[in-house]
Amino acid sequence: MRLKVVAGNLIERLVLKLNAVPEPLLETQVAFSMARAIMTAVEFGLFEAVADAPAPAASIAAHCGTHPGATGKLLNTLAGCGYVRYRDGGYALTPKSRKWLLRRSPHNLCDKLLFQLHEWDLVTGYEHFVRTGEPYGPHAASGDHRYWQIYQRGMRSLAALWAHDVAARVPMPRAARDMLDIGGSHGYYSVCLCRRHPALSSVILDLPEAVEHARAILAEEGMGERVTHRVGNALTDDLGQDTADIVFMSQLVHHFTDEQNRMLMKKIARALRPGGVCVMLDSVSPTEPGRGDQTAAVLDLYFAMLSESGTWPVETMCAWLADAGLEPLPPRRFRNMPGGALVAGRKSA
Ligand SMILES: C[S@@+](CC[C@H](N)C(=O)[O-])C[C@H]1O[C@@H](n2cnc3c(N)ncnc32)[C@H](O)[C@@H]1O
Repeated sequence: MRLKVVAGNLIERLVLKLNAVPEPLLETQVAFSMARAIMTAVEFGLFEAVADAPAPAASIAAHCGTHPGATGKLLNTLAGCGYVRYRDGGYALTPKSRKWLLRRSPHNLCDKLLFQLHEWDLVTGYEHFVRTGEPYGPHAASGDHRYWQIYQRGMRSLAALWAHDVAARVPMPRAARDMLDIGGSHGYYSVCLCRRHPALSSVILDLPEAVEHARAILAEEGMGERVTHRVGNALTDDLGQDTADIVFMSQLVHHFTDEQNRMLMKKIARALRPGGVCVMLDSVSPTEPGRGDQTAAVLDLYFAMLSESGTWPVETMCAWLADAGLEPLPPRRFRNMPGGALVAGRKSA
């Protein structure tokens, strides 16, 4: 899956093929303006305002507490981008906005889009990063309470897309009892795995700023003592010996350098019981630039700018596992997870 300029008819296809379409304009100004318009609409609740019935711009603005004329412009932009439909003076949801941007939908990405309003500011760090090589480091630098709160909610809304599929495809050891979910935040992967495996309990190890906000999100799942938080730092904490049947890390290893990941994997190998598995779920980069997925390529720069690291190739992740004495298992891909893969390794029984 990739974002791409698509021709609307035969002539446009020809012009596109002849390299006569100014694609960089579409891929920059149109892309960033469209992105901000959709996020603004979520922030002001425009999609919620037409959830039950089409409405004219003035009443949508009254519902959202926004300016009627400017709201009309935003709605027209959204109509041009396929997020609302205009008919007989009223705006209505399209299947895309109804499924992905309406809070009542179990698939909604509203919190991720709200977090993207922060990510918007973060990507302004690209020039500085490229000039100096210095990461922006907002995780460490930001003591911003609101940032951590919306970060955890945003990650939870992404997890809802994949956690059920992931839980079904994790190579869970037979009779597994104890899971360690490192950087597990909201805990939704732990929740889905524990619901699927009734004998399993999980401890989520995460940074204090994350746990402060993630606790309330996890509590909504009503898992009680079966899924709990432990405040800590995976890089510096002792993970114990023979204490876990599965160690799970989703969207974590891109935060760490190669050296940190190698060191962490050795601690994980020690923490695993015989036959236990370590599972990494992340965006993966290709072994050669340009060969892999567009999303992973874009995220590589983003994560590098944030944390001096980036996405890793499957081969590198397997090397961490093998160096720690774990046997790498065949990687798994997911149809609806652009650029993502599940890479796992097993400790010998
Ligand atoms: C991108 S989020 C992923 C959250 C969740 N696993 C998911 O996939 O939705 C990364 C998480 O790792 C946590 N994290 C980062 N560095 C960590 C460390 N050294 N030890 C423990 N957790 C860490 C962050 O606080 C954050 O909650």
